Amino acid sequence: MKQEMNETKTLRGKKRSHTCGELRAKNVNKIVTLNGWVDGRRDLGGVIFIDLRDRYGKTQVVFAPQHNQQVYQIAKQLRSEDVIAVSGKVERRPDGTENKSLPTGEVEVLADDLLILNESETPPFPIEDEIETSEDLRLKYRYLDLRRRQMQENLVIRHKMAQLVRRYLDSLEFLEIETPFLMKSTPEGARDYLVPSRLHHGKFYALPQSPQTYKQILMVSGYDKYFQIVKCFRDEDLRADRQPEFTQIDIEMSFIVEEDIYEMAEGLVKNLFKEVKGIDIQTPFPRMSYDQAMTRYGSDKPDLRFGLEIQDATEIVKGSQFKVFETAIQNGNLVCGFNLKKHAGVSRKQIDELTEVAKSSGASGLVYFKSTGEGLESPVSKHFSAEQLSNLRKMFEAHDGDLILLITQQQRQIFQTLGQFRLETAKKFDLIDQKKNSLLWVTDFPLVEWSEDERRFVAMHHPFTSPRDEDVRILDEALNQSKTKKRWTQDNPLGSARARAYDLVWNGNEIAGGSIRIFHPELQSKMFKCLGISEEEAEKKFGFLLEAFKYGAPPHGGIAFGFDRLVMLFTGSKSIRDVIAFPKTASAVSLMDDAPGDVSREQLMELHLKII
Ligand code: AMO
Repeated sequence: MKQEMNETKTLRGKKRSHTCGELRAKNVNKIVTLNGWVDGRRDLGGVIFIDLRDRYGKTQVVFAPQHNQQVYQIAKQLRSEDVIAVSGKVERRPDGTENKSLPTGEVEVLADDLLILNESETPPFPIEDEIETSEDLRLKYRYLDLRRRQMQENLVIRHKMAQLVRRYLDSLEFLEIETPFLMKSTPEGARDYLVPSRLHHGKFYALPQSPQTYKQILMVSGYDKYFQIVKCFRDEDLRADRQPEFTQIDIEMSFIVEEDIYEMAEGLVKNLFKEVKGIDIQTPFPRMSYDQAMTRYGSDKPDLRFGLEIQDATEIVKGSQFKVFETAIQNGNLVCGFNLKKHAGVSRKQIDELTEVAKSSGASGLVYFKSTGEGLESPVSKHFSAEQLSNLRKMFEAHDGDLILLITQQQRQIFQTLGQFRLETAKKFDLIDQKKNSLLWVTDFPLVEWSEDERRFVAMHHPFTSPRDEDVRILDEALNQSKTKKRWTQDNPLGSARARAYDLVWNGNEIAGGSIRIFHPELQSKMFKCLGISEEEAEKKFGFLLEAFKYGAPPHGGIAFGFDRLVMLFTGSKSIRDVIAFPKTASAVSLMDDAPGDVSREQLMELHLKII
């Protein structure tokens, strides 16, 4: 008997009394109504079983002809993902048929009534935990993907974390204040997303790359503790941990120094670890300067869950008969490497593979020494003196059975190459203890970095970051030198200035970044000049900020956490896309709704735009 599908399907009288994750043994004999999606139908010996699913869980529902023939006949039509309302009595499952993996697994509902509220077409992929489906298909049918338990758990954790953040910051008297999405284009490093103005011919708004200038202005206005869980927009190259629109926990404080930011941020992270993972994380977090991080780990976001610390062996190997190193050193290169402990037993094939990894990290080759009872063994060891080999062993603290790996490269690149090589080696030899949590502040970043393309210095963090007090004078020297030379050169002393900037790193991921800001208009103007931004341009782009600073700007600073990244790490997800309800692909497309899309000629006309 087919249920009439043209009758009006309303919930009247069929509203759920319980969710699909709620029923337990204590509810036995209760008459209940459940609403949800059919998770699958099994016909067994003339009885139909379905699992009814909603975001709270699954409950088994039984349709037995001997119990209710009419309802049994309707149940025969049920297909996966149909939306139904079902009523019946809660019964204990017969002995031996309980499902221990389901919280509702002790009971089932014997159906007395069934209403099909909506039928579903066959979904393009099954709504299951483990699916082998391309990510593109999951993104196209995101509403179905979001029905999967894993995705629902991710979004539940995301929600929880947002609430925890709000509660924590509220308890410290932070105010959540919204700032505009339509702002003036003031690039911070990435490309802006632009929005044409209809009312102002030829003018554009930009979507904020972050609320940086607004939050600083809020400090001028006296809102000394601000935060916002806020969308940021950056038109940049995307990776697994980057999205064109992403969410920050954005924070700013007045009358503070670095320590205050560290303490507040550590409390926030500690709280999240405790509440989400049940882990007591040790605070304060260790700190390492940028220079240390680069020279010891070859990265400004070092993963300290494993060793492989980099050593500079240039002075030790200098003067050997080994041509490759000698020529390189004469050309100003360094020779550096690390000790891959307990791996002297690697095969020829593994050495070849390691060499490939070194090469794909940027090295031109790899030299190895096996540490044995006989000393350091290598195809090239005959070119080194006994003293050199002994010193190498000492420097790398090599014991019998260790493997020393060395490369040579320009100083400018070698640490980065080794940083990458170190990470890939750790993965290859399974050296990363996944249970460890290594949290670390990286401090004292350079104020600027040289841009070869633009032939000028660009801010390493952003142009509002304060130099260290003792380095403020470097800005004057830098400006003088650039005036004398009539241009900016890479050897300008500006490159040596350090910033009051810090990043928070968790297991090799940058989860937050911030700085103490410049709060005097003169120093801010000087900084703009150092970045090759003319007075006119600075006035045009940042005049409002410079003006605001003239009216009593307090000393201030802040930090922003990458919220999606944080949720990705807390949920153990591989991609940031798995913790965002509606993410974009790596080419910034939304496959579900096809954004970006075409617009009509009329829309373009209204905006005074022409596509060329
Ligand atoms: P920053 O640019 O370092 O600082 O950004 C802060 C944090 O945001 C995350 N993040 C991203 N996450 C996903 N997709 C992206 N495209 C992306 N870009 C950055 C990172 C990063 O640590 N206004 C300053 C903060 C401040 O100085 O207070 C800022 O935006 O986890």
